Amino acid sequence: MHLTNDEERILKGEGGEGAQRAMELLVAIGDAFDAKGMIPISRAHAASSGQEGDLFFVEILAKGKAKCKVLTTTNPVVDFDYFQNLINISEEHEEASVAWKVKDYYRQIGAVMSQSCIPYLAENIPQYGEHVAFSESSATPYVNSVIGALTNRESIQTALAAGIIGKTPEYGLHFQENRKGTALVKVECDLKDGFDYSILGQYVGKEVGYGIPVFTGIKKVPTIDQYINLCAMMNTSGAIPMFHIPGITVESRTIDEAFGGEKPKDVITVTSRELKQTEESLQSTSKDIDTVILGCPHYNLDQIAKVASLLKGKKLKQDVSFWVNTSATTKILAERAGYVMDIESSGARVIVDTCIDMFCWNNLRGKTGMTDSPKCAYYRRFGDVRVGSVEECVASATRS
Ligand code: F3S
Repeated sequence: MHLTNDEERILKGEGGEGAQRAMELLVAIGDAFDAKGMIPISRAHAASSGQEGDLFFVEILAKGKAKCKVLTTTNPVVDFDYFQNLINISEEHEEASVAWKVKDYYRQIGAVMSQSCIPYLAENIPQYGEHVAFSESSATPYVNSVIGALTNRESIQTALAAGIIGKTPEYGLHFQENRKGTALVKVECDLKDGFDYSILGQYVGKEVGYGIPVFTGIKKVPTIDQYINLCAMMNTSGAIPMFHIPGITVESRTIDEAFGGEKPKDVITVTSRELKQTEESLQSTSKDIDTVILGCPHYNLDQIAKVASLLKGKKLKQDVSFWVNTSATTKILAERAGYVMDIESSGARVIVDTCIDMFCWNNLRGKTGMTDSPKCAYYRRFGDVRVGSVEECVASATRS
């Protein structure tokens, strides 16, 4: 890979050891993908996990005095204030101490502690045509497809290294010719809400595997939560960095344009039968539930408004817990709108900065959980799981 004089100097360590390690990683990735050089990025999002692998790299960067060159936001870890009172989190708690250290090192390198997995709605919003480095399941396909920014499917570490250097190797989706569709997905059923989009995403991700789906048959412009769910689930059950809905998403007006004039490699048809089968395959039990977890990905304000309207005036069943995960910025607005009060009056809780894939849920092991997210079900910290719409989650958790 060709490096400029400045890039060579960083690689030799003249910009400090942290920047050197970041550059080494980017050069290795660039070489692996035959990149000819680097391209400047305007922003990054690191899907920080607060776990050992995350700690390993960010500690090297922080101890090597690296600093983010462009806005770099972070994923949720744990709402320590909330869980402190619920489970025994202390400095001696091994997983908690890893998560604490991770947060501290991210602060030291100048990352923004947004701790949201939907940063593209508030804290870190790319514009059309921007080259960026975004990791996180919903974030990569959302910014590529809905916004029209350009990012590869980054890991925590490559996104972080790109944020430190302000550049990324130029390969893959940074080139327009690599953003063409690969699979035609004919949707031959109605998609009525965000949950249907989650199930669609779950099915399409599995069927396509790695590729760029082009959807036909989607008649209405999806809402933001529908887009988020589609992106998150396709990029969890599969590895889908972007998609097109010709005439709706920004990079293609027609099917032909979406495929760049080429023929699709695969054709997949989705009817209500596939959606039903997919939904059924996600259920591991039909037992009564002990707990509900919503907000994987983090709920946006519209979704919180909906749960608030469903929970208003109701009470949770005895011994049933109910959590709604969101970002700190969204919770402030939800509090101002009265949504948090409506939700919490039922006994449910709205919490921030937290991801389902964290130790703070360990006490749910063995319990029966319910969620509206196939991704949450996949990462489940509880025992058995039911997956249903938000209406079904509320109906199962509340007294009639
Ligand atoms: Fe977000 Fe964690 Fe789910 S990052 S999408 S809450 S697994």
